[in-house]
Amino acid sequence: MRIDVVSIFPEYLAPLELSLIGKARQDGILQLNVHDLRSFTTDKHRTVDDTPYGGGAGMVMKPEPWAQALEAVSQGGASKPVLIVPSPAGERFTQALAYELAEEQQLVFACGRYEGIDERVIDWAREHFTVRPVSLGDYVLNGGEVAVLAMVEAIGRLLPGVVGNPESLIEESHSDGLLEYPVYTKPSSWREHEVPAVLLSGNHGKIAQWRRHEQFRRTVERRPDLMDTFDAGQLSRADRNALAELGYDVVGGRLRKRPEGGPQG
Ligand code: ADE
Repeated sequence: MRIDVVSIFPEYLAPLELSLIGKARQDGILQLNVHDLRSFTTDKHRTVDDTPYGGGAGMVMKPEPWAQALEAVSQGGASKPVLIVPSPAGERFTQALAYELAEEQQLVFACGRYEGIDERVIDWAREHFTVRPVSLGDYVLNGGEVAVLAMVEAIGRLLPGVVGNPESLIEESHSDGLLEYPVYTKPSSWREHEVPAVLLSGNHGKIAQWRRHEQFRRTVERRPDLMDTFDAGQLSRADRNALAELGYDVVGGRLRKRPEGGPQG
């Protein structure tokens, strides 16, 4: 995969030289280039921003340096590259979107700063790219760079050969719509806290069942919103029992929370 990142703070992206993503670059799995937006300006002051039409606080990124930069990095080829514009006003970045983007040949990330990029860049770019404004979550960062670090890591680790043991991608949080179960290592007794006995039992069926139950328990406690969208069409009897204990019944392939104190269905 090829990834191009355009930013006025290229140094912000230095962590992408480290760890698994750095190794993927060295191994040639990922060709990642970071570009300084200012190198696409033509004036003496290398200006990238200007005051907003209509008034208001802050500055807006000028369109022409962006057009020059995006034209320079677009590889062309069989499919349009995907232009990801990190923004709190974008669609939500999820594990599902990470998997989808990991299939692309080229991703281009346009890091906005200030109040954002002149909207005409987004309209113009649709001729050359599949444009996706994407948000990390419902909070505001100072610019897109930190969001790009997160997204490139989430996408990059899904590329074949990046994570040493691909099985570790299967059982992690969000891969099946639930949060991950808790994990423990030695010693089995630590500061008067014990590892759950079932994990020491050697009974792999029981361990799998316990882990599944913990996934449900955690998800109910920390992210009840995920229970509403969980696909409950193919659940085992043991899963249904675990969910009933947590106050959820399966109705038409979805989970329905039983009213407080209601009978188990
Ligand atoms: N830029 C500023 N805030 C952001 C957010 N929440 N997600 C992605 N990019 C951003």
